Amino acid sequence: MTSPRKTYIIANWKMNFTPGQASLYLQRLSNRVQASRDIQVILAPSTISLQPLSLQINRRQFKLAAQNFYWRDFGAFTGETAISQIRSFVDYAIVGHSERRYIFNESEKDICEKVAAAIRNGVTPILCIGETALERKNGETKSAISAQLHEGLLNVSAEDIDKVIIAYEPVWAISSNKNAKPAKPADIAEAQELIRKQISRVYGKETSENISILYGGSVNADTAAGYLEIPGIDGLLIGNASLVGDSFCSIIETAKGIRNER
Ligand code: PGA
Repeated sequence: MTSPRKTYIIANWKMNFTPGQASLYLQRLSNRVQASRDIQVILAPSTISLQPLSLQINRRQFKLAAQNFYWRDFGAFTGETAISQIRSFVDYAIVGHSERRYIFNESEKDICEKVAAAIRNGVTPILCIGETALERKNGETKSAISAQLHEGLLNVSAEDIDKVIIAYEPVWAISSNKNAKPAKPADIAEAQELIRKQISRVYGKETSENISILYGGSVNADTAAGYLEIPGIDGLLIGNASLVGDSFCSIIETAKGIRNER
């Protein structure tokens, strides 16, 4: 498959960094990373940092993503932030991250409403799907991935599917999990194929070839190349290793090197 798709390198900072620390990180990163047509670097800070970073960021160099939002556009939802309130700060939004699913009990309904809300507000959703350790042990990896993909995209029409990015993140591989272990390239390749086949059945072959599929789970500067070389994997969603500027920059450089070789 010759790929016109971009490579996405996404920093999911999770609940780390004050706005001041986030700003300092961005400043240092800006001095080290050149903008590139083929590589899209995206930072996902806490909601509180989105506005200040959006004023500081050079959008040709980096984009911002929300880590979370509520799917209604306004109303009596104490403590929530709507995507309509932050849409001018971000280009992307992470939806369905396993920490949201399993710590905050987000349901499939919440997730498909969020995917739709992001699209409605002109923001690209990055839909995270992936099996738990138990599902994997029980031989339910394929059915878990398939069900999450189906549910997450329930509200997405053929017209809008090209506005969605999929991230395959096996829950057992995410560094915050006890006994996390990195996924094997063969497993990721298989999941990627399954996702494209399902997209092809619902939305057609061309869409399945155009959609971007990322991998996330314990990626670091040493392992990034191995994941980026998996055919059909278009980038990385990075948690822990993105908190350290040196390792995040090194992953970006690795991605550039791999793109240049193609
Ligand atoms: P990790 O997190 O790189 O720390 O495993 C990835 C993620 O949760 O998206």
